[in-house]
Amino acid sequence: MTDISPRKLIIAIDGPAGAGKSTIASRLARKLGYVNLESGAMYRALALKAIEWDASFEDEVALVKLAHDARVELEPTIGGNRVLLGGRDVSARIRERDVTEAASRVSVHPKVREWMVARQREMGAGGGVVMEGRDIGTKVFPDADLKIFLDADPGVRERRRLEQQHAKGPSAESMAAELRERDQRDRTRANSPLVAAPDAVIIDSSHLAEDQVLAQVEGLVQAALAKSPVEH
Ligand code: DC
Repeated sequence: MTDISPRKLIIAIDGPAGAGKSTIASRLARKLGYVNLESGAMYRALALKAIEWDASFEDEVALVKLAHDARVELEPTIGGNRVLLGGRDVSARIRERDVTEAASRVSVHPKVREWMVARQREMGAGGGVVMEGRDIGTKVFPDADLKIFLDADPGVRERRRLEQQHAKGPSAESMAAELRERDQRDRTRANSPLVAAPDAVIIDSSHLAEDQVLAQVEGLVQAALAKSPVEH
């Protein structure tokens, strides 16, 4: 019997912090009935483990060992991914400032990335996924059915992040400085820096409402499905 169900796409959404990736990826996945995988949560979970085991963020060998021993699970929920580390729910903890900073540091190491990329490929191989991160379209799934690079002006991204965290005054200033520093590190690292894939559709969300971005992305999904609409 011929299977005529719609093809299950691999959708890659990359971009810097504060561009709106997580919200768009999770809303899109929900609409399509796809799984939303936040690759950044995996780097964050490893960073938390490094903090807890007192490992140096510079020690690539130790970090890879921790990664091998770590059991990181991403469970899609309506509000994003629930993240389990060794069965423990660390979803809130990994969003804290120390882990955020550490994630950007542990993710520079090629061998750490190799391990992460292999896990991410396993998770997304069957399709029906919206995976978001920094290198999904360039490295994890270079043949993704649809690649989106979601960007926004640095000032806009900072403002969004600070609003999300309800940060004000000096704490807001230092958080903004940290965001800029992290951005710079993600874009300039030697291994898989944050860059748009040549075949990615770039969406600048600086002056767009969330619903407008989602509508654009949905249009692109329909076009990708129309190219080869069914699975045989
Ligand atoms: O998306 P995020 O802010 O949760 O990501 C946390 C850190 O992980 C970010 O500073 C860069 C790194 N990261 C990465 O290097 N590659 C990815 N695919 C996802 C995240």
